[in-house]
Amino acid sequence: MTKKTATNQENSKKQQLAAHTEDGRGQYLTTNQGVRINDNQNSLKAGARGPSLLEDFILREKLTHFDHERIPERVVHARGSAAHGVFQVYQSMANYTKAGFLQDASKQTPVFVRFSTVVGFRGSTDLARDVRGFAVKFYTEEGIFDLVGNNIPVFFIQDAMKFPDLVHSIKPEPHNEIPQATAAHDTFWDFVSLMPEATHMVMWAMSDRAIPRSYRMMEGFGVHTFRFINEAGKSTFVKFHWKPMLGMHAVAWDEAQKISGADPDFHRRDLWEAIEKGMYPEWELGVQLVAEEDEHAFPFDLLDPTKIIPEEMVPVTPIGKLTLNRNPDNFFAETEQVAFHPGHIVPGLDFTNDPLLQGRLFSYTDTQLIRLGSPNFHEIPINRSVAPVHNNQRDGHMRQTINKGIASYEPNTVGGGCPFQAKIAEGGFSSYPERVEAHKVRERSASFSDHFSQATLFYRSQSKAEQRHIIGAYSFELGKVNRVEIRQRMLGILAQVDKDLAQAVGENLGLEVPETPEQPINRGVPANADQTTYEPQSS
Ligand code: HEM
Repeated sequence: MTKKTATNQENSKKQQLAAHTEDGRGQYLTTNQGVRINDNQNSLKAGARGPSLLEDFILREKLTHFDHERIPERVVHARGSAAHGVFQVYQSMANYTKAGFLQDASKQTPVFVRFSTVVGFRGSTDLARDVRGFAVKFYTEEGIFDLVGNNIPVFFIQDAMKFPDLVHSIKPEPHNEIPQATAAHDTFWDFVSLMPEATHMVMWAMSDRAIPRSYRMMEGFGVHTFRFINEAGKSTFVKFHWKPMLGMHAVAWDEAQKISGADPDFHRRDLWEAIEKGMYPEWELGVQLVAEEDEHAFPFDLLDPTKIIPEEMVPVTPIGKLTLNRNPDNFFAETEQVAFHPGHIVPGLDFTNDPLLQGRLFSYTDTQLIRLGSPNFHEIPINRSVAPVHNNQRDGHMRQTINKGIASYEPNTVGGGCPFQAKIAEGGFSSYPERVEAHKVRERSASFSDHFSQATLFYRSQSKAEQRHIIGAYSFELGKVNRVEIRQRMLGILAQVDKDLAQAVGENLGLEVPETPEQPINRGVPANADQTTYEPQSS
């Protein structure tokens, strides 16, 4: 790792934040109304030993503000750390996307990146065995694009309908709030043993990927398949990858335990100190591109978030670099109040019908309305777009913008307000006109039904030492499960991934691997599940 001199780019986001940044050093102490305070030690009393007076507006204001200092933590990903930086594309991606920030190799786009664990509370240890969030906010000149990803390329469930169930199972058990930050308990294993679609991601979560050495040494993934859209309106499927320039590194489980005891802020400290020392962490953004015509050329469904596209089938092409070069000035104002949303996209990008992604598009604004308390949370400095914002949305709690003019509707002839009628049709975001013709059903596509092949692929891609870690992790975690029928059901699942793995875990638990797995383990295998190559249908 090389020590870098600070890039002297005065980017637009930095300037925007500066307007809202306060430095009280050397200043007079004042109330929130700007009135100077002459005594910050004593409340106002009737006599030095007498009762305090209700009149003491300085004491009242100070206590009231303090009483309201806390906001709800995120319902998931509560524990996190963030940094500012820049993203720069290597060369124009115009063939695939018209997104402005992916056109010009000389342009730097400001970013804010938050890493997190998923399950633990805000104060939990960084070294828990858990998935890590990897959320990137690009402040582009065309508006905000959030790539809200994880350090594992697949997800536990296929449909947003199951997300509350998943999270309820994985959070501390409701009667005693144990355990705080690991998966080692009955409800989690109960759920995933009944949900074979979780098998692939659980395998990753039991691997070394779930105990990274540092945020700087983790991969990141967009997980879902998205779309790039070019100027001509052509769509290309895209999967996003972040590859750390420092390489990928993990700690061993015993090391994680010791570090958690000695320094629960280990990852937070590591990120902070690296940036303070000018050892700026870097990642390459990579893409896997699949032509629209090849949507059905794979032995799995591109819309299924429990599947990767193996890199042997579609290589990852590096297209740009992310550099984190500045620590936040204030944890609460920036890291805590930042609001990421997979639905924040810019022209040149679009969604697919992945039913997990579709549910996420609802969930983030909904949760942020309660977490941040107002429909105006986009006006919080860290969430402000650097692209100008003009619309007819008005008022609401904590409104900051002072909108001029009498028109807050469109069309209008009285002037003022916005947008001007004539501007509406000029450019802007338009959704990819995907043809959809179907019956309205509550169903899962049969193309989503192979839950084990890629779990096997992942397990067998691991080195012997890594496989031992996976066996150790399953044995440790399942060893904490009280109900023997849950352990047994998990062995049935593992047997469908790899017989030796199931056998080894079974031996450690002192349990027989079941001959036939219990219901409802429902292995539906598409006809082409053995396909390992990809024959492009596109020319
Ligand atoms: C945070 C919901 C799946 C990555 C959150 C939050 C919610 C949520 C409610 C808290 C947001 C906040 O308070 O600001 C969901 C739902 C999902 C889902 C309903 C599925 C239906 C995923 C997936 C990924 C992911 C598949 C990864 C690709 C993240 C990350 C954060 C987050 C990184 C933390 C963002 C931050 O640092 O502030 N999610 N999530 N989530 N989610 Fe999801």
